[in-house]
Amino acid sequence: MIKVWADGAEAGLVDRHGRRGSAFTYLRNVDAARAVSVTMPIRLASWNQDYDLTPIFEMNLPEGALRERLRLAFAKATGTFDEFDLLAIVGRSQVGRLRYTGPDDTLDEGVPFQSVDEILKARRDGELFAHLIEKFATYSGVSGIQPKVLIRDADALQRKLSSNARRSQSFRGATHIVKLWDPTEYSQLAANEYFCLKSAQHCGLNVPAFQLSEDGTALIVDRFDLRADGAYLGVEDFCVLNARPTSEKYNGSYETAVIKRLGDYVDEANLLSDYEKLFTLIALNVGLRNGDAHLKNFAITYEAGDGEARLAPVYDLVTTTVYIPADKMALTLDGSTRWPDAKRLRRLAETRLMVEPRRAREILAHVGDAMSQTKKEIQRYRKDHPDFGDIGRSMIEQWEIGMQQSLRDV
Ligand SMILES: Nc1ncnc2c1ncn2[C@@H]1O[C@H](COP(=O)(O)OP(=O)(O)OP(=O)(O)O)[C@@H](O)[C@H]1O
Ligand SMILES: [Mg+2]
Repeated sequence: MIKVWADGAEAGLVDRHGRRGSAFTYLRNVDAARAVSVTMPIRLASWNQDYDLTPIFEMNLPEGALRERLRLAFAKATGTFDEFDLLAIVGRSQVGRLRYTGPDDTLDEGVPFQSVDEILKARRDGELFAHLIEKFATYSGVSGIQPKVLIRDADALQRKLSSNARRSQSFRGATHIVKLWDPTEYSQLAANEYFCLKSAQHCGLNVPAFQLSEDGTALIVDRFDLRADGAYLGVEDFCVLNARPTSEKYNGSYETAVIKRLGDYVDEANLLSDYEKLFTLIALNVGLRNGDAHLKNFAITYEAGDGEARLAPVYDLVTTTVYIPADKMALTLDGSTRWPDAKRLRRLAETRLMVEPRRAREILAHVGDAMSQTKKEIQRYRKDHPDFGDIGRSMIEQWEIGMQQSLRDV
């Protein structure tokens, strides 16, 4: 049995159910503000699932290398290791406002300190990266295929947290996500993502602060869900909002699984503004040739209690066609994963996102300008970073194709 906490308070218990499922029950008389998901209001009856965990509890389970590492370290003598075991291991430190502990345990995130500056200056041949994974894996309740860990940086706490929150000493949660890459898989992935996020910034989108280590081996991103008072925002990705397991993150359409779903959860007063941001982000993903914009790479955030949901800041942008030249979109548009042209993007804006025709044209032009500006930054970076030369050149080629075929007016 696992105890579920919301905003630092007990909310309910989740247990194994049947042969492969799970059941979650809210505590009696729990405050309405402790609902664990916008999709799971408080009720007496339990929330059951025949297979695996409910999507909100599964949302931050590590995938890829980190999951495999935890499996190897923790698999029992019998060899069994399921999602339940994984949640128990990484439950205390998670993205968003939920935490998980043993049924009788108290909550203590207790993430060890790690200096961001030390990572920025580290060399790939050093021991730091193996050390980071080793030390922080069990504090890393964060999804995704790329190797990554959650860390707690003391300087960031000084800067970001209000003096009250700093004084309270109670803040022991993570402040940053450190994303690493395996040179035998996706070369220069951190620099690739860094420049894609730069483009998003130039588009005027909301991007959390991010830094690239000096030798390009790590991307360090501020957690966008950490508030100045030390509390965390609610975060729910679009797998959760569509009641889908992580394994179905590539199944869905922009029209229904993203756009309509966002409309289901964002208030009318904020929807026009979020729709315009979403259109900018979709156009940017297409321009960058990011074939990995799946349901877990979009999310909403909200304040604890009945805070209004908004489209989350931008994260995880990568030009995937430098690694997989024939890559296509992760989600469908008009029933197809082919990269759309500008006309189709404009039609999407006008018919589904309530963006005026003139504004849609302006946004596409603006995204193109942002990418052109970032292209110059890539050129400059390439001069001092020979290791990035090939990937940098390839990114520029892909962006030129993206801009020409998908953003330029037709
Ligand atoms: N800055 C951030 N603050 C808080 N949560 C974040 C932030 N960036 C990402 N996340 C959360 O962490 C998850 C994993 O991050 P990210 O998508 O960057 O990893 P990834 O390994 O590249 O993913 P993928 O498997 O899609 O390639 C996201 O789905 C999101 O829930
Ligand atoms: Mg991702």
